[in-house]
Amino acid sequence: MPSVTYVLPDGSEQTIEVKSGLSVMDGSVANNLPGIEAECGGSCSCATCHVYVEGEWAAHYGKASEEEWELLEFLDTVQENSRLSCQLVVTDAEDGLKVTVPEEQG
Ligand code: FES
Repeated sequence: MPSVTYVLPDGSEQTIEVKSGLSVMDGSVANNLPGIEAECGGSCSCATCHVYVEGEWAAHYGKASEEEWELLEFLDTVQENSRLSCQLVVTDAEDGLKVTVPEEQG
């Protein structure tokens, strides 16, 4: 299974295996990691699954879709590499992915 590293709001890192086909958000929720609330359950309508995609992975996934960006742009914590983690599907091609969960989801 692909492994994904989450840099958590307290600065610690957790590397977990995420089943291929699930999202970065699913992996976090399934492992009870703090920070990603995912209030809407993954339907790209709440923005409480905001993460920063680190390093080369940002280009790998590319920019947020227009629908995603409409939510992200209102966050105080938005950055160039911001994405909604429910929209980031993990497959073997994403093995080694690293994301940072912002301190504030808002
Ligand atoms: S879980 Fe709601 S937008 Fe991602």
